Amino acid sequence: MDFSIKTFDARTSLAQAKTGVMVVGVFENKVLTAAAAGLDGDGAISAAVKSGDITGKPGSTLLLRGLAGIAAERVLLVGLGKEAPVAPKDFNSACQAIARTLATVGAADTLISLPCDQVREREAGWAIQALVLALRESRYRFDEMKSKKEPVPAGVKKAALVLDAAAAASARAVLAQAVALANGIELTKDLGNLPPNVCTPTYLANTAKKLAKQFGFGVEVLDRKQMEALKMGSFLSVTNGTMEPPKFIVLKHLGGKTREAPTVLVGKGVTFDSGGISIKPGAAMDEMKYDMCGAASVLGTFRAIGEMNLKLNVIGVIPATENMPSGTATRPGDIVTSMSGQTIEILNTDAEGRLILCDALTYVERFKPAVVVDIATLTGACITALGHHNAGLFTRHDDVHDALADALIAAGKLSDDTAWRMPIEDSYQEQLKSNFADMANIGGAPGGSITAACFLERYTKAYTWAHLDIAGTAWKSGPAKGATGRPVPMLTTFLINRAQAAR
Ligand code: BES
Ligand code: MN
Ligand code: ZN
Repeated sequence: MDFSIKTFDARTSLAQAKTGVMVVGVFENKVLTAAAAGLDGDGAISAAVKSGDITGKPGSTLLLRGLAGIAAERVLLVGLGKEAPVAPKDFNSACQAIARTLATVGAADTLISLPCDQVREREAGWAIQALVLALRESRYRFDEMKSKKEPVPAGVKKAALVLDAAAAASARAVLAQAVALANGIELTKDLGNLPPNVCTPTYLANTAKKLAKQFGFGVEVLDRKQMEALKMGSFLSVTNGTMEPPKFIVLKHLGGKTREAPTVLVGKGVTFDSGGISIKPGAAMDEMKYDMCGAASVLGTFRAIGEMNLKLNVIGVIPATENMPSGTATRPGDIVTSMSGQTIEILNTDAEGRLILCDALTYVERFKPAVVVDIATLTGACITALGHHNAGLFTRHDDVHDALADALIAAGKLSDDTAWRMPIEDSYQEQLKSNFADMANIGGAPGGSITAACFLERYTKAYTWAHLDIAGTAWKSGPAKGATGRPVPMLTTFLINRAQAAR
């Protein structure tokens, strides 16, 4: 999809604009937006609204053809709900409805004239981004692995957003940012959807190298020998059962001031999680190819901020491995020494995410980070707690961490990629007690996502830290099985906000 911004002066009215589909909004109670009223010369639109052919309810649509006095071949009316200001939720419904219609209509281009500056508690840029993301989402396909590609989807391929001349300059910048975000989201989806025999740790490392070349990131990929030298005994224990070489990936986007402490993202990169010797049941085990979605979200976020040329120092770290059973695999009962020196009794080899993350969290101390956010498909228990709507957000409970949690939650709300805060308290830490090592790697069934976060917390004392458990949000199961690209919108928005604050 090709996007642009168009402005109209008084002489070239919307009615004279040539396009395949002109999209304008209508409200409930038969009220037209200014743009719709501008096209209503012969009363066809108000007649459609009056007759009830379109209710104006959020996401309702009506496609009209050949209106007298209108140069556009078609006019698509879309419902925005009850009168302005438009609720953000209603605006999103309208965007999705527009995307659905434009995906099948027999036109190549569209002009979209919506009241972007009349969304409640949102700036016009928010509305532009919502529209771009919805249109890109509806055109996303993953058919890389099919021998016969699905036919190129019909529908609109060029979209121009109509804005006042006064708003156009800032809108162009916002549009470029939204397209960069969409590109990041799609990279994350592609990596998640690729099969685990293709998307290996080596593949993730090569993707990081490609991004580095394209956007000028620093990149470093450590192999097993280098991880041994760093004494990453916990991470390496997870790699014992697989033939796939593990990779430890470091990406650096240094767009901020030289001395500015970096924001660090750490993504879980288990390219297939069989459970290891504590092997998982067979049903839906294929979905454990998505166990690298934390890593994919770091790469997708870098794709986005690289294209935006974000003025912030950001470092991405990805511990990547498979988790497989074999004669050399780690056993339940094994005790390993992490890079931090703390020892871990591995009571369940399926709790492997925390074992690779803890060494990555120790490794990043060297960057003297401003904040560290880790992103992981960490626990099934997080799905039980929060379902598929919110990611789990965990931090310590003090002023500094409350502020970090608030910033992430706000970024999630703004980008429709939400998180819900969960507790980390000492009472939960007790569940990680081991009779034989400093800690066990599991804390029992009660509060499973919390004890997992408590485990990670023990490795993050040197800096301000937050943990996102994306087990419920990174992909969809069932007939619509596929990666969602979450939480790239939240992370990218969080970083954009930090860059703004640093100016
Ligand atoms: N990758 C899984 C978590 C997961 C499971 C995410 C299902 C999404 C869907 C993780 O490595 C895991 O296996 N966690 C265990 C932890 C348990 C052994 C303490 C789990 O959640 O069952
Ligand atoms: Mn596991
Ligand atoms: Zn896992």
